[in-house]
Amino acid sequence: MSRHLLSAADLSRDDATLILDTAAELARIADRPIKKLPTLRGRTIVNLFYEDSTRTRTSFEAAAKRLSADVINFSAKGSSVSKGESLKDTALTLEAMGADGVVIRHEASGAPHRLSGWIKGSVVNAGDGTHEHPTQALLDAFTMRRHLGSLDGRRVAIVGDVLHSRVARSNVLLLKTLGADVTVVAPPTLLPVGIENWPCGFSYDLDAVLPKADVVMMLRVQRERMKSSFFPNAREYSRRYGLDVARMAMMPEQTIVMHPGPMNRGMEIAAEVADSERSVIVEQVANGVSVRMAVLYLLLGGSASAIGGPPVGAGVGVDSLADVGVGAGAEPAFAASANAPHPPDTGLRRRHTDAVVAAEFVEPQEVS
Ligand code: MLT
Repeated sequence: MSRHLLSAADLSRDDATLILDTAAELARIADRPIKKLPTLRGRTIVNLFYEDSTRTRTSFEAAAKRLSADVINFSAKGSSVSKGESLKDTALTLEAMGADGVVIRHEASGAPHRLSGWIKGSVVNAGDGTHEHPTQALLDAFTMRRHLGSLDGRRVAIVGDVLHSRVARSNVLLLKTLGADVTVVAPPTLLPVGIENWPCGFSYDLDAVLPKADVVMMLRVQRERMKSSFFPNAREYSRRYGLDVARMAMMPEQTIVMHPGPMNRGMEIAAEVADSERSVIVEQVANGVSVRMAVLYLLLGGSASAIGGPPVGAGVGVDSLADVGVGAGAEPAFAASANAPHPPDTGLRRRHTDAVVAAEFVEPQEVS
């Protein structure tokens, strides 16, 4: 059974709920004077980032450090990658140095999946090409749960550059699993072919969707991935698909506004909206640390059974959350679910098609 987190599709409802409940427990330590747990002491986590990132890399780093893991930050720039070293060789080198887990961001869809076949440690997908970003979807779901409670039947609008967005794909998959009703909204040019087969609705008309949404998630227009023109110009895009103050007024009073960041202020979202009381964008960033702590804890060695299987090296210098005073007695429901053996079908499961994912990632030819 998998010990990786590669896709939101790998998470059953029980898995996702366990991660979100664990994150809620871990979020409490952010309020303590000492924000550190000994849980992953002696473990090494490598952040392997082939694409630029600010919040995701620092969020994973903060999460690992709060669990007392040793963290190695690897960025492709300035490494042997620029001399042509393959992902496989880089990964094997890092593993030889004792990495227990690798958090990978890569511009090619499928790279984390490939990596998971090469190394013994856990692999966490921190964003691969236009494919997936499962921890972003988890932190988004965590943020929504905090504001809305159960996500069952909640209406979520995901708006903008769906075509190039790994955030949209992971969110659609996870939110479906958690019972939400998702509609993606974009111009036809920014919706992927086959959108009608996604487990969500779709619309070209933002103004028609806004009045019914509990959550409006704006996506960045990903110019760096656009190889041709997908809309006439920025002003026209904003006019039809930007969330400005007038559009915000069309939303029900309790509706929250989200954005995974980085934002193009003035394009997909007006500054007044991003900074408004409806916006939970800064909260998303804070929640990201707790959610990533939960993922690392569950995959790498919380004494509670890992998501979908025995933790890597279970029992080796690893404390349970209860042992370190998180959730001990305070949340019997969590304690019970975290410590109970998981039924076999609640594991991280590979439900997405390996072929689709693997297709885009082509390992460069190794030069002898
Ligand atoms: C991502 O890495 O996909 C970001 O969180 C969203 C974006 O780049 O627009």
